[in-house]
Amino acid sequence: MNGQPAVSASAPGKMIILGEHSVVYGKPAVALAINRRFYCRVSRSGEMILNGRRVPAFVHPHISSVINDNGLSGISMDAGTQIPTSSGLGSSAALSSSLSLAVRKLLGRDTDQESIAKDAFNAEWNAQGRASPIDTSTCTHGGGVALNCPVGIGRELWRISKNDRSWNVSEFDVPEMTFVVGHTGIKAPTGPLVEKVRKYRDSNTFAAEIVDEIANITLEGMERMKQDDRVGLGSLMTKNHKLLSILGVSCPQLNKLVECSLPYSYGAKLTGSGGGGCMIALTDHPDKVARAITLHGGTPYIVNTGVPGVQVDVKKTK
Ligand code: PMV
Repeated sequence: MNGQPAVSASAPGKMIILGEHSVVYGKPAVALAINRRFYCRVSRSGEMILNGRRVPAFVHPHISSVINDNGLSGISMDAGTQIPTSSGLGSSAALSSSLSLAVRKLLGRDTDQESIAKDAFNAEWNAQGRASPIDTSTCTHGGGVALNCPVGIGRELWRISKNDRSWNVSEFDVPEMTFVVGHTGIKAPTGPLVEKVRKYRDSNTFAAEIVDEIANITLEGMERMKQDDRVGLGSLMTKNHKLLSILGVSCPQLNKLVECSLPYSYGAKLTGSGGGGCMIALTDHPDKVARAITLHGGTPYIVNTGVPGVQVDVKKTK
């Protein structure tokens, strides 16, 4: 780097178990952090330097939002990631969260998770046009995070509001569960998919009812998870996938990976904004699901959950 003091930080990716898209309208959602991380190392600079190259300040909207929120006009940043981009696994949220921590630490500002989650959500909102805090809060806190869950399901962490929407963010104890992520290999940025659902929901009462139905099954899924009822949770995940397909955010490749996983799973669904990206399956037979995903043209990752959120890394990371 440039000889200036530097701070390294990392944050995990996430997978949404239930409630994507509907959560944008203040409805509930559940997500788990996964053992794939985004790493960054930052130091002060008068201009924007990314992996050793000078770039325009606006080139990455998440980065500009975080550095502007912290009163800077440039930063020198080295970055590396294990999270595939534009794939529904929270790569932008992990970037925003880890960058916020590193910049705050560098400037001697508060580094509590709530401040970081709010910086990261702001970045997501500015870049995406409309967003919920599910990704950014999960990548910041780690473990399991539920938004707008009923009393008794989780422990409240913080509250985030934007315009007329607000979300109570809670943590919950993650039960032992095995998930396989299947990557279609198709990149699909979140913003246009969120906008597609917004237009459909605003113009069609049937679409608005589907969004409400996703909220209902998400609440039921939180109860199933609390009772460690995988059969119940899995069938709600599969139902959630069908409702998201009706909203127009699935695609043939996602449907194929969901279908081929179901014979060996409690349930399966797309995760994140859809249109490509990834699906997840809840299973006791991860190897069989992984093989089926590979045979059907996807890339499987057997993921670990219960992983830590954003953190300062002592050693230089990739
Ligand atoms: O695809 P991802 O990882 O950006 O997930 C987006 C989740 C949405 O509900 C579709 C949008 C949001 O901001 O909550």
